[in-house]
Amino acid sequence: SSSVEGQVDPFSLVADELSLISNRLREMVVSEVPKLSSAAEYFFEMGVEGKRLRPTILLLMASAVNVSLLSGSGILDAVMTNISSELRTRQQRISEITEMIHVASLLHDDVLDDADTRRGVQSLNFLMGNKLSVLAGDFLLSRACVALATLQNTEVVSLISMVLEHLVTGEIMQMESTSEQLYSMDHYMRKTFYKTASLIAYSCKSIAILAGQTTEVAMLAYDYGRNLGLAYQLIDDVLDFIGSSASLGKGSLSDIRHGIITAPILFAIEEFPELQEIINRGFDNPKDVDLSLEYLWKSRGIQRAIELATEHANLAVSAINSLPQSDDDNVRISRQALVDLTQIVIPRKK
Ligand code: FPP
Ligand code: MG
Ligand code: MG
Repeated sequence: SSSVEGQVDPFSLVADELSLISNRLREMVVSEVPKLSSAAEYFFEMGVEGKRLRPTILLLMASAVNVSLLSGSGILDAVMTNISSELRTRQQRISEITEMIHVASLLHDDVLDDADTRRGVQSLNFLMGNKLSVLAGDFLLSRACVALATLQNTEVVSLISMVLEHLVTGEIMQMESTSEQLYSMDHYMRKTFYKTASLIAYSCKSIAILAGQTTEVAMLAYDYGRNLGLAYQLIDDVLDFIGSSASLGKGSLSDIRHGIITAPILFAIEEFPELQEIINRGFDNPKDVDLSLEYLWKSRGIQRAIELATEHANLAVSAINSLPQSDDDNVRISRQALVDLTQIVIPRKK
């Protein structure tokens, strides 16, 4: 098995199921108001689907925590196949719900951020206005709730409902914080968990719960999602400074311009406390952005943020390696793909 390790593209393992899910997402947002349907499915259209990272993780997790149902007799085999395909459909449903919640949060986020573009196309608010965008997001959430109800699992309903609260909490924490909170690493990490990691953490856990897995396995699934989500956002925050959006190889610097203080700056302040006073001036003077960046470049801020992301990526790997042993090839390939995904997160460019 070692010769193929790291060779299988995680996305191609679930490619067929991903297109199934994409089709279902488009069906799930049909409404009697055509404008609402077309607004809600805007980011589900072919070519605008994004990386579909969340459904990919969740489908791989579904295989990774799969308990192979062994049986001998032919009749029982048929029953078992039926049960496992029904389970798989339910786990696909979690992937659909998660993607709907994610897209709803993006529609609302682009309104809050006044964003003109998303995924390389015009944002929905830019095209159709804030009002329709907010309502389309609400509509997606309501359809996600209906889909959640069909699973008839109250624990999963509670977890996913809590995620919705976390998304709102994270967004508010980012919007308004006291000066003490603004410069607190702990506050930043909690905000990051709520805003980015909670959705994938609790939906990974839901996948394990639907599989009837033990509390321990459900916890490991959660740990994987949480740590991968944190690593992902840390790298996202690094890319805001060093990303390749411009030909110069510079990031968009949108966080710092909006007064959003992320890990690289927090680490830089540890080395150069005077940076905090510059930031406190509120960037009324554009020169202060450049001055802050000078401090950042001479600090180890970027490097330490990448190191922290790597630590979380490694914790995600540990969670997968702590899952109960399995001889099932499919289980092992999926676990390896989940491990590989942690490595894809770190050096990514966008
Ligand atoms: C993207 O962050 C934003 C989020 C991941 C969460 C947004 C959450 C809300 C707007 C609260 C509403 C919640 C629901 C459930 C609809 P970003 O602006 O830092 O990143 P970007 O570069 O993707 O815009
Ligand atoms: Mg945004
Ligand atoms: Mg935002």
